[in-house]
Amino acid sequence: MCGIVGYIGTNREAYPILIKGLQRLEYRGYDSAGVALLNKKGLNIYKAKGKVADLQDYCQDKDTSGTVGIAHTRWATHGEPSATNAHPHYSESKNLAIIHNGIIENFAEIKRNLEGKGIEFRSDTDTEVLVQLVEYIQERKRLDLLTAVQVALHQVIGAYAIALLDKNNPDTIIAARKQSPLVVGIGDGEFFLGSDASPIIEYTDKMVYLEDGNIAVMKLGEELKVVNILNEELSPAIHTVDLNLGQIEKGGYPHFMLKEIFEQPECLTNCMRGRINVEHNHVTLSALIDHRSKLIDAKRIIIVACGTSWHAALIGKQIIENLCRIPVNVEYASEFRYRNPVVRSCDVVIAISQSGETADTLAAVELAKEKGAFIYGICNAIGSSIPRATDTGTYIHVGPEIGVASTKAFTGQVTVLTMFALTLAEAKGTVANKDYVKIVEQLATIPDKIREVLKTNDTVRDLARTFTYAHNFIYLGRGFSYPVALEGALKLKEISYIHAEGYPAAEMKHGPIALIDSDMPVVVIATHNAMYEKVLSNMQEIKARQGRVIALVSKGDTMVSRLADAVIELPETMECLEPLVATVPLQLLAYHIAVCKGKNVDQPRNLAKSVTVE
Ligand code: M6R
Repeated sequence: MCGIVGYIGTNREAYPILIKGLQRLEYRGYDSAGVALLNKKGLNIYKAKGKVADLQDYCQDKDTSGTVGIAHTRWATHGEPSATNAHPHYSESKNLAIIHNGIIENFAEIKRNLEGKGIEFRSDTDTEVLVQLVEYIQERKRLDLLTAVQVALHQVIGAYAIALLDKNNPDTIIAARKQSPLVVGIGDGEFFLGSDASPIIEYTDKMVYLEDGNIAVMKLGEELKVVNILNEELSPAIHTVDLNLGQIEKGGYPHFMLKEIFEQPECLTNCMRGRINVEHNHVTLSALIDHRSKLIDAKRIIIVACGTSWHAALIGKQIIENLCRIPVNVEYASEFRYRNPVVRSCDVVIAISQSGETADTLAAVELAKEKGAFIYGICNAIGSSIPRATDTGTYIHVGPEIGVASTKAFTGQVTVLTMFALTLAEAKGTVANKDYVKIVEQLATIPDKIREVLKTNDTVRDLARTFTYAHNFIYLGRGFSYPVALEGALKLKEISYIHAEGYPAAEMKHGPIALIDSDMPVVVIATHNAMYEKVLSNMQEIKARQGRVIALVSKGDTMVSRLADAVIELPETMECLEPLVATVPLQLLAYHIAVCKGKNVDQPRNLAKSVTVE
């Protein structure tokens, strides 16, 4: 996944806007970055391997003047990370510049054809093929830029969000989208472009979210024009976006991840706002109520998701099955989309995605739609592709998540899934009123309980120092805590590059126990719940083999402390809500270990915030 920024105006310099925009989008990709600027002297492209800061260094002695430009931060798909492969790419004559997010699947074939016609390529990327193709069509057929782009896009198979500059049309930026997000900001006599709203919001809140197949023409002195590949003019909705700058900045924290961990109490309050009525102990998800019959009559629910969202789905499965008595299957979207799954019109498919742009989850949604299922989205990024592809859904409303390791989105997803289960169970009459009321009451107290857990931050930091030596970690939990173990392990792997595995605690003796020795830290979720005694026995098994146990325990527990090497106390809550509090110290543990190891917490190697490619 890459990040795209663009600006065209007359009074402001483009370069500072583009650099600031790239910094806001850097979470999307960070192996190289580049900028193309148009000024009276011509079209200049500057590129650097590494971060946006490296690009800034490189540009220090360059001519960065101009009020029109496009910029890009890359996450490599075709071609190694290097300045040559960084975007923008020139066309052969250097009259055109392009930036691109996505993959051109038939690039090799197009490249062969163009090379056969004598065109020379400078990079190994699929993107360069597109700009060369546009120029070839433009020159060969004597077409204007827009028509040449439309003809070129006709020949392209794949996913893209692109923006193009043309030295000979210095008053215009052309952008197009297919399966990769792109937002146009409308200012006063100026236009902004971004992969999402974050690089734009500082300048305007009027935005157009381009749809698949849309081509936007941003021409100075004219209104925004949006057409399709057949040149039919479209009338896209202009949204007023409610996002403030504070939400996308670090606010005094050293890393976005830490800020986002600490934001969770407030985020979950926002997530529940208007949905939970504490006075009457009642929950309503309006999207569910509006489509009540579809959901009540569902014979099965299938949840599709990836990564952390998939872990949230495993928790959702348990709570929906418990309360609503409907079978729930949880699927990796990437597997589901390719295995001809049985999906019927009486099924409801829930797609969970923080970004709302994950390519596999989006494809799973499209497949389920084709098969006639009703689709419910649980997403964070407002106006992103998945919410727009679903029949209805609920936003988690936790605000922009910038750290690549997902934290607040996970607790937001679990909160929405809990409210979903409660609303549906009430509608179906499958939950006893006293149980319903108790869960609602307890759910409303979760933000305060997370506040309490966050007070363990210093203890967790000290613990992290002790365990930084480890090359492997095991995480164990049962029932609702099993997905928490998976999530804890994923967080650690992602940002500290320590190998970590999550298991259902009882599975340990079927294999992983062979790994236990005095070097192996084992994180055990051992709170007071139905499985408490069983987990204690699992812990005995670890200690008997000299493993080092870090236990998450219910406040006041004394049994576990006798066995464990370290304990972190959690406030008591109902078992089904425990993941919401138990995940937080595991996020902190991963964070502090990664910091102790000197890793780049917000931008871990090889990862991108949202995976918009297969
Ligand atoms: O945006 P999504 O929720 O669809 O993203 C899914 C995964 O790519 C994501 O959760 C990933 O695993 C995170 N890096 C986890 O921290």
